[in-house]
Amino acid sequence: MDDIRAPDRASSISTGVRVWPSKRYAKMHRDSIEDPEAFWDQQARKLEWQKTWDHVLEWKEPYGRWFVGGKLNACHQCVDRHVHTWRRSKVAIYWEGENGETRVLSYSTLFREVNHFAHMLLSLGVTKGDRVALYLPMIPELPVAMLACARIGAVHTVIFSGFSAQAICGRIGDTRAKVIVTSDGGLRRGKIVPLKDIVDQALPACPSVENVIVVRRTGQAIHMREGRDHWLSKDMTGAHVFVEPVAVESSHPLYVLYTSGTTGKPKGIVHGTGGYMVFNYVAYQWVFDIREESVYWCTADVGWVTGHSQIVYAPLSHGAAVVLYEGAPDYPAVDRWWDIIEKYGVSIFYTSPTAIRMFMRHGEKWPARHDMSSLNLLGSVGEPINPEAWYWYFRHIGGERCPIVDTWWQTETGGIMISPTPGIDPLALKPGSATFPLPGVDVAVVDARGNELEAGETGYLIIRKPWPGMLLDVYEDPARYREAYWSRFPGSYYTGDFAMRDEDGYFWLLGRADEVLKVAGHRLGTAEIEDAAIAHPAVAEAGVTGRPDELKGETIVLFVTLKEGIPPSDALKKEIADLLRETIGPVAAPGEMYFVDSIPKTRSGKIMRRVLKAVASGKDIGDLTTLEDEASVEEVRNALARLGHTGAPPPADSSH
Ligand code: WTA
Repeated sequence: MDDIRAPDRASSISTGVRVWPSKRYAKMHRDSIEDPEAFWDQQARKLEWQKTWDHVLEWKEPYGRWFVGGKLNACHQCVDRHVHTWRRSKVAIYWEGENGETRVLSYSTLFREVNHFAHMLLSLGVTKGDRVALYLPMIPELPVAMLACARIGAVHTVIFSGFSAQAICGRIGDTRAKVIVTSDGGLRRGKIVPLKDIVDQALPACPSVENVIVVRRTGQAIHMREGRDHWLSKDMTGAHVFVEPVAVESSHPLYVLYTSGTTGKPKGIVHGTGGYMVFNYVAYQWVFDIREESVYWCTADVGWVTGHSQIVYAPLSHGAAVVLYEGAPDYPAVDRWWDIIEKYGVSIFYTSPTAIRMFMRHGEKWPARHDMSSLNLLGSVGEPINPEAWYWYFRHIGGERCPIVDTWWQTETGGIMISPTPGIDPLALKPGSATFPLPGVDVAVVDARGNELEAGETGYLIIRKPWPGMLLDVYEDPARYREAYWSRFPGSYYTGDFAMRDEDGYFWLLGRADEVLKVAGHRLGTAEIEDAAIAHPAVAEAGVTGRPDELKGETIVLFVTLKEGIPPSDALKKEIADLLRETIGPVAAPGEMYFVDSIPKTRSGKIMRRVLKAVASGKDIGDLTTLEDEASVEEVRNALARLGHTGAPPPADSSH
């Protein structure tokens, strides 16, 4: 933690009042953009390096390598660094099980468990650079396993525990992980999710996996294959073990995390060590104004990037006390989260707009039952937050005392890019705006040709300069890395988001501009869903679009054409929905499904998404001359007519 201290937080709340960014922030940002290397050189000194870097940045477009020549260890930053100070007895993790069980891990306990785990990985032959898949529920062993991998220089790939056997196969097939770590089960709404059984289903198709480490959580009987499957024992050696953290090169990969893009296959986003850790360390201070006494709770699953950066690497590198909750937000009752805030005295709370909207529906009587006066800062991430939800969050959760940091970032950016920074200086907030880029972050809103737009105009969000948290690559797919991020606006990183900058310079993030959906904050590629649907034997073609949804932000609308002679039916709809759930995960279940004669496509075979969107939302298609999908006006008219577009969505049973 730094010595940066924001003044009293209440003074940073002046919603609706025109106040430009503070002088301190403005100077910091200006300096960082004028001389990024000097700026990042200073910031990087806040971490403990085993060897100092020779160059701050080596930029060979599109690859940025940060702190070249430097050596460090991410686990050392998050654990060892603290156990040599008074923080050894400070709480690292307050864990709350869904069933009410609790565990409290101090930094010294975390140190012991991480060493123990690292020792087990070593004994199974895992060494620097090997990939380890982690398929675990939200239990302390998940961060422990991540840190243990980092300690020995192994590369973790966390697979969200809501994913299916097929998703596990895809990720393990791509990374060729040697070991997978799982648990007997996980708890979700009082029921056991049989994680080890799911892994068993996946393993026959994952030849790279030599060993399975199993954590005991739920206690039901599971199959353990002799020689391959090993329990994570609590006292493997009976004594404390110490595993020396491996000092890795700054650009040594820390992890691979899969996320959806515009093609059928999720991309393995690779993050390095030095740049990622430096960026997250400073961003965490600026955005969350972390203090020694803070109790911080980010409700994301560790399986997403938010969990990686904002539950594990950023807070633990600061020696913060983190709450980790295993289960569903509304189990056993709608006030479970508010109960947890009261119980642990949470001071910083970070969640998603979808969750806030869900709680809004249930009403303010639930938070009102709890004393949440410990809170002093709130955060939001994953999707745009609508002003109505913002105000509800501000009033009923934050008691009108707490600024809300609306943080815009992506799996690829590694850390928060655009957000208020109460840790630097207070600033007037505008509900629904993520406000300003962090120091060192150079973003712009441009038109299709890359020209910067005037205030008030909507365009594409790009990042004009490399930043330390940037992805290293797409795992073993450099062509895709170049194509997805660096080809559309030469010299700049393309985010895939629409944005607008207002007259005061505030940024407004307006959702995805590419073929990616955000359903309840989860990223899903339209092509990924289409591919999964086409795998059903009755389906000839599939087209997916998103429709705005009051709760989830966006919901999936699926258009399907069936093979010759197969009659549409509700049973078939259910089968297709189940298949999507199974292939991708429960978030991929479509909100609506329509059987149609044909999926509108251009002559070159591209799905006309604007047509699908217009039909799904019952909206007018708008100006046909600016079609993004390169179809002719005539083609679009015909396609609309064929889908019977009347300005209203087709009836649910629309089957021609
Ligand atoms: C969206 C999540 C508006 C955006 C950390 C981005 C947001 C995508 C915000 C990345 C926000 C994230 N306001 N939109 N505060 N935060 N997004 O990779 O479309 O799961 O491109 O990373 O989420 O999603 P991802």
